[in-house]
Amino acid sequence: MFTTIRPTTQPAKEAIPDDLFAAINDLKKELNAVILAHYYQNNDIQDIADYLGDSLGLSQQAAQTDADVIVFAGVNFMAETAKILNPHKLVLLPDLDAGCSLADSCPPDQFAKFKALYPDHLVISYINCTAEIKAMSDIICTSSNAVKIVNQIPQDQPIIFAPDRNLGRYVMEKTGRKMVLWEGSCIVHETFSERKMIDLKMANPEAEIIAHPECEEPVLRHASFIGSTTALLKYTQQSNHQAFIVATEPGIIHQMEKASPHKLFIPAPAIKENCACNECPYMRLNTLEKLYLCMKNKSPELTLPEKTRQAALIPMQRMLAMS
Ligand code: 13P
Ligand code: SF4
Repeated sequence: MFTTIRPTTQPAKEAIPDDLFAAINDLKKELNAVILAHYYQNNDIQDIADYLGDSLGLSQQAAQTDADVIVFAGVNFMAETAKILNPHKLVLLPDLDAGCSLADSCPPDQFAKFKALYPDHLVISYINCTAEIKAMSDIICTSSNAVKIVNQIPQDQPIIFAPDRNLGRYVMEKTGRKMVLWEGSCIVHETFSERKMIDLKMANPEAEIIAHPECEEPVLRHASFIGSTTALLKYTQQSNHQAFIVATEPGIIHQMEKASPHKLFIPAPAIKENCACNECPYMRLNTLEKLYLCMKNKSPELTLPEKTRQAALIPMQRMLAMS
């Protein structure tokens, strides 16, 4: 007996132009679009972006832009933030699966129960959370303004800080404030090995260790400078040191090398041998091809329920006013 092999109907692959940079620039003009990108994106996406920044800078740009279309080369919570601030603009994300382990570590139903245990607490949430968590928060913060924002809250006001326990603990140390922490974290920033970093520092004694506050305390305690991605970039430009061990997602090293071509940047080592686990698997889902396709097809579009968006807008606006 013979088996009939039927041809499968595959969706036709969309043609990708040879010169993606030119094609994306043409679409940018046609759509009156702005491309906002985070430093953890691939180098070619960073090179074509209109604005590169940390989460605060990206939110400020999203709040100010007069473009009709915002193309967000970053992860879901960042595109959501752009939508919260721009309900009437089309917000595109090259890959809707670009999530965030930190945002996922704070499910809204569980957070609602947690929050109910502390009815007199003010909720300050790190921007790396879903729109639902933002909607349950009083103020949003980022890694660049968290200390400044907590310092503006009256001393007798108890605070819940969510979702990142590492940033929360760092802010407590910096402000001397005790806060109730949600136990969330980022898989990328918890991957660095203190032991291997010490070995690397011994092999490169001239290098300064710099770190993002999402890292765990055993890594942070070796850092000469701790800050948001933009703050780390600025620090490497201003420091007299010629070499740095960089404890954050290594995508930022592209901008560090561009700004200081004669300096040496060494990515901080991960616990596991020979893995790329210090690269954010969500950020890296975006590619130049997907960026082109999302602009060409005006899809995937980031949308939000209007009720959630309105509730999330209030703490976002408070953050922008307090920054
Ligand atoms: P910043 O760029 O605001 O420092 O945040 C880093 C980050 O984890 C983004 O996901
Ligand atoms: Fe989320 Fe961590 Fe990736 Fe940032 S690096 S987007 S916090 S998973």
